[in-house]
Amino acid sequence: MSQAEVIDGKAFAAGLRERVGIAAAAFAAKAGRKAGLAVVLVGEDPASQVYVRNKGKQTVEAGMASFEHKLPADTTQADLIALVERLNADPAVDGILVQLPLPGHLDEQAVVERISPSKDVDGLTPTSTGRLALGLPGLVPCTPLGCLMLLKDKLGSLSGKDAVVIGRSILVGKPMAQLLLGESCTVTIAHSRTQNLPDVVRRADIVVAAVGRPEMVKADWIKPGATVIDVGINRVPAAEEGKTRLVGDVDYAGASAVAGAITPVPGGVGPMTIAVLLRNTLVAAHRNAGVALEDQAL
Ligand code: GUN
Repeated sequence: MSQAEVIDGKAFAAGLRERVGIAAAAFAAKAGRKAGLAVVLVGEDPASQVYVRNKGKQTVEAGMASFEHKLPADTTQADLIALVERLNADPAVDGILVQLPLPGHLDEQAVVERISPSKDVDGLTPTSTGRLALGLPGLVPCTPLGCLMLLKDKLGSLSGKDAVVIGRSILVGKPMAQLLLGESCTVTIAHSRTQNLPDVVRRADIVVAAVGRPEMVKADWIKPGATVIDVGINRVPAAEEGKTRLVGDVDYAGASAVAGAITPVPGGVGPMTIAVLLRNTLVAAHRNAGVALEDQAL
């Protein structure tokens, strides 16, 4: 049996960060200031702390200003909203990302809705999601936009392809479906209540798995030659006592023997999220400063 081509998201993300770095230097020269990204972390969730640290490091490496706001887990809704409003008003800040999930006592939607749409680099405000649904230009959530970039790089035109998105989250599933529809795919959104999920997935030329269940998508669900994008990052016990390893939502070893192309975990979709976040911040910076963005390849 032939082996699927491995889609190297790590290399694609490195190339995107390099292009962003070049465009960020040109922006700073024209605008007289660096593009700036503010990240807000509430509480001490270990995975979120790792993401936020990586975001800050890669923002600086790309030649942009990074503003990190770490707030205690018992921060009130009013204090968090007050910070968002300060960042909305700060001319050095082009993008605002409030790391999710927030501690349970905070109302995520109410906080996100206070982010100025011009600084919504996560693409989560009603304005951004509405514009995406309408097919208007705007800021799009980072992970699904990264998945789309990988798909277009691999397949070229996606027009007319059958795409199945597994998962309906606001961060990935729903915006992913909108993006694929925008590329003229025939889109199905599958989720935990979907009946006969294996049969639904078997129809797909493109499978995007974003459910957060380790290795749920099996080899015999995959249409031969399909392109498989695995958004899952699940930590599971490793063979060696006391160790863990990362796996996706797809049974990678099995699916690789059937698919035409597949993203690995780690090294597939994961590195794309921050690279696209930097790209979105730079796009927002150009709009906020009234400077034309010359590199259309971003
Ligand atoms: N938590 C995990 N991924 C993301 C993301 O892309 N944006 C935000 N705000 N929180 C996240």
